[in-house]
Amino acid sequence: MLVTLLLLVGVSSTLALDNGLALTPPMGWLTWERFRCITDCKKYPNECISEDLIKRTADIMVSEGYLDAGYEYLGIDDCWLEKKRGPDGRMVPDKERFPSGMKALADYIHSKGLKFGMYEDYGNLTCAGYPGVLGNERLDIETFVEWEIDYLKLDGCYIQPENMDAGYPAFGQMLNDTGRSILYSCSWPAYQEDAKMLPDYASIAQHCNMWRNWDDIEDSWASMTKIMNWFGDNQDRLAKHAGPGHWNDPDMLLIGNFGLTIDQARVQMAVWSILAAPLLMSVDLATIRPEFKEILLNKDIIAVNQDPLGKQGLRVWKKTERGARSRLEVWRRELQGDALALAFVSQRDDGIPYAANFTSSEMNVQDGLYEVHDLYKDEGVRHWNSEEDFEVRINPSGVKFYKLIRKPSADVVVKSKTDSDSAMSEAVVYTMLNKS
Ligand SMILES: *[C@@H]1O[C@H](CO)[C@@H](O)[C@H](O)[C@H]1NC(C)=O
Ligand SMILES: *[C@@H]1O[C@H](CO)[C@@H](O)[C@H](O)[C@H]1NC(C)=O
Ligand SMILES: *[C@@H]1O[C@H](CO)[C@@H](O)[C@H](O)[C@H]1NC(C)=O
Repeated sequence: MLVTLLLLVGVSSTLALDNGLALTPPMGWLTWERFRCITDCKKYPNECISEDLIKRTADIMVSEGYLDAGYEYLGIDDCWLEKKRGPDGRMVPDKERFPSGMKALADYIHSKGLKFGMYEDYGNLTCAGYPGVLGNERLDIETFVEWEIDYLKLDGCYIQPENMDAGYPAFGQMLNDTGRSILYSCSWPAYQEDAKMLPDYASIAQHCNMWRNWDDIEDSWASMTKIMNWFGDNQDRLAKHAGPGHWNDPDMLLIGNFGLTIDQARVQMAVWSILAAPLLMSVDLATIRPEFKEILLNKDIIAVNQDPLGKQGLRVWKKTERGARSRLEVWRRELQGDALALAFVSQRDDGIPYAANFTSSEMNVQDGLYEVHDLYKDEGVRHWNSEEDFEVRINPSGVKFYKLIRKPSADVVVKSKTDSDSAMSEAVVYTMLNKS
């Protein structure tokens, strides 16, 4: 048994991409969801894809604590290029919006202690119609290395999904050949899922640090839950391919933009953390409201997302049919140190917080005594015996997000040895609860 286990561990680690990057899900900021392809800097000076936007974001990521919280990659998505390559065949950044060029921008980003993310497309054109890399792969990778990028998102417009199984690995090998550590984000399975092909996730995990599985996220609860539901429905073929160095990517965080309420934003942060998803903000950090900023900077939730075990969590319970507890779901992720994260999500819209009980088997929780921490800190710490029902009360389109720490029975002995009254009474509670 032990031998089999060791063999499995050995096999899975040799088959996954091993470039030393993304040992926990990548965290950062990316232009696309909020800023799309705004190129008119006269009309929209604060929103256009430009070096000003990137430098301003770099400054705030550092001064407002985002970098300290773990958000280290600062990435430009589509729409940074001139429509035509230069006379030497090289990619040319838009001359008006990036007047100092990409190397200077990289230097600025690096001087702040951040890492530089860039975007290209494996096809003839990017999705927004700028030059893609096809036919110029070597030259473009050389150019990116000269610019000292740290992260590359390679999109998949204007190329056949059938060509990706060979193309994406070949491109990844060329990246590796340069000797520069560049995190490789692939859109490979997203286009294959869209074409109703079954992506070879084992191969994808072997060649990419992260990969977009499915639809682009849009700024609404409807879009977010559609993606969340899809990840739950398809978890059996997705989750097992995630781990240190290689992650499924349900797409950017909408938090702080127009479409999500505070409760809905809390759902995204919770479920994306259960999913061990990359945490890529896409929001104007200069104008974000403090209550959304607080969600993005929640250290306990980020710790769940970044848990070193790197195990993607699962939706372990849900009820879609009518009746009691309908449209509730339970998401569960194993954490290091005999701990679990549990997100109770409500997709209900009736006008009161909805109270419900769950059994330990519905929550897929091992028997025992637990210390329960509300990661959004609305409730104090509670103690729970898995023989009892677990009661939650969830806002409409909201979440209750807990970390459960299993108490070893030895704890009871240790605590009862202390003299303090509070420790004694705690020990008594434990002993009473521990009747089995
Ligand atoms: C290239 O691939 C090898 C083998 O997987 C790996 O050890 C090395 O770290 C990679 N180098 C870079 C720069 O990605
Ligand atoms: C890419 O462009 C070349 C040259 O114009 C063309 O032959 C080829 O069919 C295009 N490929 C795709 C996938 O559109
Ligand atoms: C949950 O269970 C407790 C204890 O049995 C009970 O007091 C409470 O009313 C239940 N809550 C709901 C919402 O059913």
